Amino acid sequence: MRLRGKKNIRESLEKQPDLVVLEPQRMRGRWHEFFGNDNPIHIECGMGKGQFISRHSANNPHINYIGMDMYDELLKRGSEKARTIWLEEKGSNEVPNLALVRGNVEFLDKMFEPGELERIYLNFSDPWPKAKHAKRRLTHPKFLLKYKEVLSEKGEIHFKTDSLSLFEFSLNSFSDVEFQMRNISLDLHREGRRDDLVLTEYETKFVGKGMPIYRLESVVGDAVQQEHRRQVADALEEQARRGPMKNYESDEEDDDADETNSASKE
Ligand SMILES: C[S@@+](CC[C@H](N)C(=O)[O-])C[C@H]1O[C@@H](n2cnc3c(N)ncnc32)[C@H](O)[C@@H]1O
Repeated sequence: MRLRGKKNIRESLEKQPDLVVLEPQRMRGRWHEFFGNDNPIHIECGMGKGQFISRHSANNPHINYIGMDMYDELLKRGSEKARTIWLEEKGSNEVPNLALVRGNVEFLDKMFEPGELERIYLNFSDPWPKAKHAKRRLTHPKFLLKYKEVLSEKGEIHFKTDSLSLFEFSLNSFSDVEFQMRNISLDLHREGRRDDLVLTEYETKFVGKGMPIYRLESVVGDAVQQEHRRQVADALEEQARRGPMKNYESDEEDDDADETNSASKE
């Protein structure tokens, strides 16, 4: 019974070559042929049921998206999700800027040429809490270096998780391989659910339970690193123009001074 179920799922995937790629290594260096354009490619490694990547594909038609996972069942759910969203919002269940790929992140370099990807999303990756499994965590330095190989000069990694221990481990990993980080958040939905952001299935569940979501972005490609450094330099220059930064202590002193001043004026 289960085998027949699996066979049906595989048959359904094989009937969708416009959306589902079962042998992604064949597309290495040719993903722009699949999409029929040269738009940048963003991938979610470990897409689960595909809510995040499907929603992004509908929101941003000028970006090509790839949702990757290891299981046929998840690819099938992802294909249903994507086609439903597109049918409801665009009037057609064809999804031109999305590929759902069966693959293991371990072999990312077999599926993509150097520089072929512009952004990698790691959303709620399995935390693998036991120390002996640390090398399986998708933010282990060995994976980060693999991502760098396939990212372009504008390449970025966006990572979010509910797991504090995975986030701590990841901060160390990014730092160990000297990847610049920015926009670090220890509670992404602190002010209430961020409906301006695209949430994943896991995120929706955890935010509903009031759990904090940890997030960071890493700028990996040379061009995006330079751009980031320029923005930081501009911000520092602007700050310098406005005068020296106050710390909390001096704020208090200033408050006291203000009170003294106004009292003496009275
Ligand atoms: C906890 S789920 C998160 C799913 C989704 N990103 C979300 O936030 O709702 C992790 C997913 O990553 C997939 N995954 C784990 N390791 C993987 C690997 N090495 N290659 C591809 N997918 C992987 C799992 O099959 C699972 O679907």
